[in-house]
Order: sequence, then C-alpha cells, then structure tokens
Amino acid sequence: MQELCLISPSLKYQAELIAFREEFGEKTNGIPGSGNLIAYPAITDWLAAVEKNRNKETLTAGLIPAEQYIAMDSNKIIGILQLRLELNDYLLDFGGHIGYAIRPTERQKGYGTQMLTLALKKAKTKQMNKILITCDDKNLASAKVIEKIGGILEDKRFLEDENIIIRRYWIDL
Ligand SMILES: CC(C)(COP(=O)(O)OP(=O)(O)OC[C@H]1O[C@@H](n2cnc3c(N)ncnc32)[C@H](O)[C@@H]1OP(=O)(O)O)[C@@H](O)C(=O)NCCC(=O)NCCS
Repeated sequence: MQELCLISPSLKYQAELIAFREEFGEKTNGIPGSGNLIAYPAITDWLAAVEKNRNKETLTAGLIPAEQYIAMDSNKIIGILQLRLELNDYLLDFGGHIGYAIRPTERQKGYGTQMLTLALKKAKTKQMNKILITCDDKNLASAKVIEKIGGILEDKRFLEDENIIIRRYWIDL
C-alpha cells in the first residue's frame, strides 16, 4: 500500500479521472463520493459542476456546499471522496458528511481506511468537530472502515425511497 494524497481535482488529472471512471464499468449505478462523475461524459463539465457545488452562491438550490477530492498514490487515482461541510435533513438522516469509493482493483489493501483518515484531518482543518458517516446496513466493507476510523454507531434508519436500512456513525474530531 502506498501513501495517498487527498487533492482537489483539476484538468491536469483528466486522463487519470477517465481511467478511474472506466474501471467501475458502464453498468454501475454511480460512484459514491464522486459528485456523479459517471453522468458527465466530459471531465471539463464535471469539474465545472464540482466548482459550482463548492460555493453557496452558485450551488443548486437545496444542495449543501461540498468539497470534492481525489486520493492519489504516486501516479493514479486510488479513490474519490466528497466532504459535505454541513448537513441538511436528508444528509442528517441518511447521507452523512462524507461519500467515498475506492477503485475496484485497489480494494482490501487498506486504502479505504487511509483515505477516510485523511478526510477526517481535512475536516478538522475546516473547523468541523463532529462528523457523521453513514452506510447501507449490508455494506460490511464500508461499516468496517467506518468502525476502524473510530465511528460510533448511533442508530439505523429506514430509507423508504430505496428500501434499505442505513447505519449512522458519528466521529468526534
Ligand atoms: C467501502 C470501501 C471504500 C472499502 O475500501 P477498502 O479499501 O476495501 O477498505 P480497507 O482495505 O481499508 O478495509 C478496511 C477493513 O474492511 C475489511 N473489508 C474490506 N472489504 C471488505 C469486504 N468486501 N467484506 C468484508 N470486509 C471487508 C478489510 O478486511 C479491512 O478489515 P481488517 O483491517 O480487519 O482487515 C470499498 O469497498 C468501496 O469503494 N466500495 C464501493 C463504494 C462504497 O460502498 N462506498 C461507501 C458508500 S457508504
């Protein structure tokens, strides 16, 4: 396992972003924590959306400002992560502060744990002091990572629209 670096995406990483996205395949429902990367054929359009979603002034109504990061090793994108700076009702019940994914070929090597640990440090620099991270009750990989970084389970809530149970964990920074 290499050391990861959390960085803001830019056009410089276009080729890496395309390769990362391709690994999830066309049939994926979406890449958690990617700001819907698969919905944007052009990386430039995704970068524009990421920028728009960072600022309260330009944000789509109803959304919460979010910082987008890519987690890189020495040459490729290992994972992707979105840090939401506040919670709305939906995020408080189900979505949490952080969305994340590790590329399929790099899972179970410790990168999920490393990337989330870096995300907590980043959150601290943004004066956040309590972080909510959630996952599908059946997503054992995600639950394990959250517990490894110190997540304390508050409760489980039923998300009617998707007919799934969500685990809600808090971490004091
Ligand atoms: C969840 C996810 C980020 C985990 O990333 P990862 O890099 O595989 O995690 P790690 O290698 O740090 O593993 C952490 C722990 O989880 C365990 N784990 C990882 N994948 C697992 C799996 N599929 N089943 C059971 N345990 C698993 C590891 O063994 C490790 O435990 P250990 O330290 O006791 O050995 C990754 O599976 C992923 O991207 N999944 C798809 C997207 C997703 O579900 N995102 C979360 C949305 S809430």
